[in-house]
Amino acid sequence: MCDTFIPEAAAWVSSHYYDVPNETVEFCGSIAGATVLNLGCGEMLTDFGLLRHDVKKVTGLDLDNRTSDHLELVAKKLQQNGILPAADYQDRLAYRFYDGQKFPFGDGEFDFLFSWSAFEHVHNVPRVLSEIHRVLRDDGRAFIQVYPWYHTFQGSHLSDFIREPYLQLTRSHEWVRERLEEYVSAHPGSKDLILGHIYREYLSLNGYSADHFYSDLVDAGFQVTKARVISYDLDLSELPPPTKFSEAMICGTKMLLQKRIAPA
Ligand SMILES: C[S@@+](CC[C@H](N)C(=O)[O-])C[C@H]1O[C@@H](n2cnc3c(N)ncnc32)[C@H](O)[C@@H]1O
Repeated sequence: MCDTFIPEAAAWVSSHYYDVPNETVEFCGSIAGATVLNLGCGEMLTDFGLLRHDVKKVTGLDLDNRTSDHLELVAKKLQQNGILPAADYQDRLAYRFYDGQKFPFGDGEFDFLFSWSAFEHVHNVPRVLSEIHRVLRDDGRAFIQVYPWYHTFQGSHLSDFIREPYLQLTRSHEWVRERLEEYVSAHPGSKDLILGHIYREYLSLNGYSADHFYSDLVDAGFQVTKARVISYDLDLSELPPPTKFSEAMICGTKMLLQKRIAPA
């Protein structure tokens, strides 16, 4: 069983910069020369890391507007953690935000769609998948990692702050907010992180299972050409009924997709 959900700051930077891009190439094969769209890019540490794999360009897409010096701030953060970002990052990285509906890109603009730990927060999954289908070249590939799925031990994303597994399946938002307020009282200085960012991320969880997501992928015109289940040893003694065994067991997934080509 993984104990800590959110690693400490230096490990967070290093895993997003090195491990996530390395795992992507290990799973998908080479992405050299690709124009990449990172759906739900967050801070963009991983976008910098993807440049190490000789991609042509990475465009991060997320919901929040950012200041024009965002890339420089991330580059500085990497340097503070002993990492030298690619010298040409200003030419090869871009950030765009949108309203969660229509991507600000033309049809077939990207070779490779990348998304890491974002889809469990996406409000309108079918709509976003159909936009991915539109902006991906017909022979393009999409790599989607989702972790953790909602019904699993860590599915609340809150296990570092509230030691009650599966609370997302049994407790009200008010109960969760009260427990987080108790955590903040005991950890002064964590207020903005916990009651701002962490609680907001909790409220954004869409409750999807791997099966539900798979069904939406197929409906959006994708085929899954490779998949890997992420799991670990599980204590299911506190799993509330009627949660399905498979939903509790599949903690996360990595998937490589292509557009389904309709038979002639
Ligand atoms: C848990 S964060 C992951 C960020 C980043 N991928 C990482 O690994 O650190 C989830 C991100 O998905 C973004 N997100 C949620 N819904 C989205 C949508 N419809 N389109 C694009 N991004 C979305 C959130 O704003 C947030 O930045």
